[in-house]
Amino acid sequence: MPIEVAACASRGEIMPAISPIFHYFGIHPTPPDGDRFVPFMEPSRVFAARDGRTIVGGCGSFPLELTVPGGVVRAAGLSVVGVLPTHRRRGILRDMMRAHLDDTRRRGEPVGYLWASEDTIYGQFGYGAASLSGNIDVAKAHARLAPPHESRAEFRMLDEAASIEPMSRVYERVRREHPGMIARSADWWRLRRLADPEHRRMGAGVLLRVVLLHEGEPQGYALYRLNQQFEGGSTVGYVNVIEAIGTGLEAARDIWRFLFEIDWVARVKAILLPLDHPLLLLAARPRELRFLVHDGVWVRLVDVPAALAARRLGGDPVVIELSDEFCPWNAGRWRVSAAGTERTTAAAELACDVTALGSVYLGGFTFRQLARGGRVQEVSDGALARADALFPADRAPWCPENF
Ligand SMILES: CC(C)(COP(=O)(O)OP(=O)(O)OC[C@H]1O[C@@H](n2cnc3c(N)ncnc32)[C@H](O)[C@@H]1OP(=O)(O)O)[C@@H](O)C(=O)NCCC(=O)NCCS
Repeated sequence: MPIEVAACASRGEIMPAISPIFHYFGIHPTPPDGDRFVPFMEPSRVFAARDGRTIVGGCGSFPLELTVPGGVVRAAGLSVVGVLPTHRRRGILRDMMRAHLDDTRRRGEPVGYLWASEDTIYGQFGYGAASLSGNIDVAKAHARLAPPHESRAEFRMLDEAASIEPMSRVYERVRREHPGMIARSADWWRLRRLADPEHRRMGAGVLLRVVLLHEGEPQGYALYRLNQQFEGGSTVGYVNVIEAIGTGLEAARDIWRFLFEIDWVARVKAILLPLDHPLLLLAARPRELRFLVHDGVWVRLVDVPAALAARRLGGDPVVIELSDEFCPWNAGRWRVSAAGTERTTAAAELACDVTALGSVYLGGFTFRQLARGGRVQEVSDGALARADALFPADRAPWCPENF
């Protein structure tokens, strides 16, 4: 019997549709597991793959407002992608990606956005690695900032309900400056960022929420867990920083000093940091941060002219010969300029696959970098430099949460 991929017709169908991914977390999903997804996804954004009456695969997307250099764009944030091991490598993911990207196009969302469980999966569907992301794991003895600074900071530990207002104020101030960040509703804060149900801790400590105040005003916050453990009577536990954000240099210093100075742990770990995080310059022993880099978010331009119109472009135009096997409506020759992106018959100056545009879109990579890695071809001299000038970016993209 052929496998059929179809959108959900009602909210009640969403949980069964996304159940395959829970297999890989070792969980039989219960309704509370759905709180992170069901309220945020229209049924028609969620696809189920059925073998007869049995659901064997599923995926769904969040409607996101994504910060890009110089603006924001609507993006489909793909998540909960899973195919049961009984049905792997029969083309079910391919069919689901077809349904998802056609749906994204119909909705007029110009960009696809995701975190990949494995770096090998999404390139073939036109997604390009769009940022690099780092983790740190620093021994307490080296967890210091330099030079030491006078601080006027006050800190408050808050419960879930009291955290939403101050944290969302801080986040809202910074997210528009950071390509890669996404808008968060109060429900997103409550259900996806601050909630700490037992079943999601997976052996880790409870979620701790601290807000940093300067003169009574929230200027930063951190979400973290203490993973306590002992060996021979001494702690080998660590602070696990899930998200730490400050509105500027002073706030970044204060929040990281707070995290570095927490007593009775052996290490401080943090995840999903951008490549240009100020901590790399503020730390007294940057090498000891053990900053480990891997691919971050992935971007797919679903509608090339609309996606480029949402992003700041500057400098002289460039003609790009674009290939796009999975979404052929994007393929062809485009004249890209600050005034707009149009089809052209002029000679191509650069040639690349749509994944390359995804990689430069948020500013995580340059055309010249991609050319050095064989992902872009310069057809006429000087075109790479012009393309980089056309896609300015003044900071590394940062998405502090894995959706
Ligand atoms: C990743 C996953 C969804 C793939 O589903 P699938 O139905 O087996 O994939 P398909 O059969 O449609 O494969 C499509 C193509 O992707 C390739 N592919 C799929 N998964 C891959 C992987 N993990 N690594 C490398 N290539 C992969 C296939 O080889 C195939 O290429 P081909 O058409 O050139 O042969 C499935 O293996 C899974 O559920 N994995 C565990 C959960 C997970 O990682 N989900 C993704 C969350 S971001």
